[in-house]
Order: sequence, then structure tokens, then C-alpha cells
Amino acid sequence: MKKIIVSAPGKLMLLGEHAVVYDRPCIVTAVDQRLSAEIFLTESGEFSMHAPDVSITDYKKSLAEIGKGEIPKAAAFIERALVNFKEKYPFDEGLEVRTKSEFSSSFGFGSSSASTVCLVKALSEVFEKNLSDKEIFDLSYKTVLDVQGVGSGFDIAAAVYGGTVYFLTGGKKIEPLHVKDFDLVVGYSGTKADTTTIVKEIAKKRDENKPKIDGIFSEIEVLVEKGKICMNESDWEGFGRIMNENQTLLSQLGVSTEKLDAMIEGALSAGAYGAKLSGAGGGDCMIALCPKEKIEDVKSSIKNANGEIIEIKVNTEGVSID
Ligand code: MEV
Repeated sequence: MKKIIVSAPGKLMLLGEHAVVYDRPCIVTAVDQRLSAEIFLTESGEFSMHAPDVSITDYKKSLAEIGKGEIPKAAAFIERALVNFKEKYPFDEGLEVRTKSEFSSSFGFGSSSASTVCLVKALSEVFEKNLSDKEIFDLSYKTVLDVQGVGSGFDIAAAVYGGTVYFLTGGKKIEPLHVKDFDLVVGYSGTKADTTTIVKEIAKKRDENKPKIDGIFSEIEVLVEKGKICMNESDWEGFGRIMNENQTLLSQLGVSTEKLDAMIEGALSAGAYGAKLSGAGGGDCMIALCPKEKIEDVKSSIKNANGEIIEIKVNTEGVSID
């Protein structure tokens, strides 16, 4: 029985969410909380999956049935990735997949994308296909679109490439940024947001008032370009100001919440360079970029606003064989 262990990082959006769905760039960083997958090749002719973090235990079907019938949501990404890989690179072996996450799937760190990337990387390795990062990205991104219909693919890029990445919709540009370490405090709002629902809500708002929403997206694009320069120069004060401006635009899109606003305000009053929601909004997490000496004050302020601190490091390694 051939076995391989792969892990991929979660992600945090630094700048550009929502606009990146509409052909604009964003900046995303990989975090040190990882999702790992053990993959066994078997002679059973069966696909089986065990992912207790998302309540999938002993899910089994014959290889001929993969991609067909009722598929539980939490198994859909892995199963679809398998179908897509097998279509391109046929094989007959059975497969057992076991995933384990260091982070809760509620945080919006991108567990579905990380697990998709892990599977594609593992299959590439186990069947000696030697896929490049871009090929792993493309196959994983196709999988995400097949399953959820929407998404820019930025989370896939973070999981594959790691580090901090300047990313354009669908992977038209994936540019790793050479950034020095920076200190990010992350606060979880306590509510899980459903990204697909929020992305569809924004699409509806855009249908109703295209000039207004596209105008906001274009302003976000300008901020991302400025932010990229600040990052390259390690100008964290400048980057913080840009985060604040990005947050204002996200509020105008209607995706911030009172709770996120309170946590963001708390972080700023405690001395963060900048703070904003990260991801689709409507819940999930906020991030605050901080001078080192203010980290503890910022954490206390976020806690005072009833946020939960999640300890992470940013700019970490992409998908790897463990
Ligand atoms: C969600 O984390 C970020 C969005 O921009 C969606 C996406 O880029 O796929 C809202």
C-alpha cells in the first residue's frame, strides 16, 4: 500500500476581496495553520474518505461511482478533485483519503481549497505526474468552480504557492511577493459566513447598480496596486492606511458587520497601523497589522469587543510533501 502525506496552508486575504471576483487583483498571505491529508493507494477499487473535522467518517463508494449520486458537501471538493484528476490521468487503484485540519472550518481560512490542493498534489506525487505549481493550481481551481460555481481562486493560489501573493482573478497573474515578516493579529467574529451566498449577493447588487459597484471595485484595485508597492518597501504604516481605506469600501459594499466594525475600531484605537475584515465579510475574521510593541494591546482591544484571537504566523510555506 503506497502512502503519502501532504499539507497545505490556510490563507488570509490582505487586500482586494470581492473586487478580485471581477477581474481585479488582490493580495493574499498563507498562514501557518495547515490542513494535512494522508493518501493511501489500495487494491480495493474503492474511494474512501475520513475527515472528522468536517464530520465525514468512513465515507465510501466504488471508483466507478465517484462524482455521481448524492455527495455530502464536505466530501465534494475531494471527490470532484479526484474525478478531475482521473479524467486527465486515468488510474485504476483504490484510494483512501484522511484529512486533518489545524484550524476550524468556520474561520474562513480556506479548508476546502487547502484540501483540494492537498489531494491534487498527492495524486501528482503518487502517480509520478510531476505537475507544476500552475498545473496544480489549474486543476484545483477547476474543481472549486465545479463544486461551488463562484470564486476567484485566490485561496487556491495561497495554498499552492504559500508566502504572500499578488493574484489576479482565475490565476491570470500569480506573483509571489518578496516580503519581510509582518505582524498580523487575527480576530474571529464568532460567526461563520457563507462565501458563496455573499458573493452572489454582491453579484445581485452589481446587477442593480453596475456603475456604483464597479466604481468601488476600481477603487479597491488602486488600493491593491498601492499596497503591493508598500509591501515591497516594507512600508507597514502605508499598508495599514490602505487596509483602512479598503475597509471603508467594503462597508460601502455592505459586507461588514457591527461586530467586525467594533473589533476593527478596537484594534485601531489600540495602535494598529490598519485593520479590516478579511474574506467575504458577513462574519469570519478581521485582521489588524500592528507594530510589534502594540500587539498585546491590540489583542486585548479585540477581545474587549468580544472577538476571539486566533494565533497565526503569516507568509508561510505552500503545499508540501511531509
Ligand atoms: C472570500 O474569501 C473572498 C472573495 O473575494 C471571494 C473570492 O475571491 O473567491 C469574496
